[in-house]
Amino acid sequence: MAHFLWTDDLATGSALIDGDHHKLISMVNALFDSMAKGQANDIISKVLNNLIIYTKEHFGREEAEMQRIRYVGETAHKSEHTKLIKQVAELKSSLDAGQKTNVVAVSKFLDDWLRNHILMVDKKLATALKEHAQKL
Ligand SMILES: [Fe+2]
Repeated sequence: MAHFLWTDDLATGSALIDGDHHKLISMVNALFDSMAKGQANDIISKVLNNLIIYTKEHFGREEAEMQRIRYVGETAHKSEHTKLIKQVAELKSSLDAGQKTNVVAVSKFLDDWLRNHILMVDKKLATALKEHAQKL
């Protein structure tokens, strides 16, 4: 199973956001490992639950920063967060209902989402945070 690999283009330049992303990626990789080993649904579900908890905390930190600087892209950015949380909660429900996971599809979805979100959405926020700090 391919791991999510950190590449330097993912660095946003915000220590807060980048630090969270490193931890998030290690948790995504723990989930991939758990699925790749064919662990039981209840174990995968626990790993996924840890990921959901941390993701919510991380999104909360980003959203607090958006509010602090009155970020113009706040609504669109937050709606991406809300949508992802809904999708991973659905995945957890299906695991808890005993359904088999499509390991390849789940890992591809999470890898693509995280990479695209960091590159297209979080980087814009990091730039706005930097600009805000320079204005002070
Ligand atoms: Fe984000």
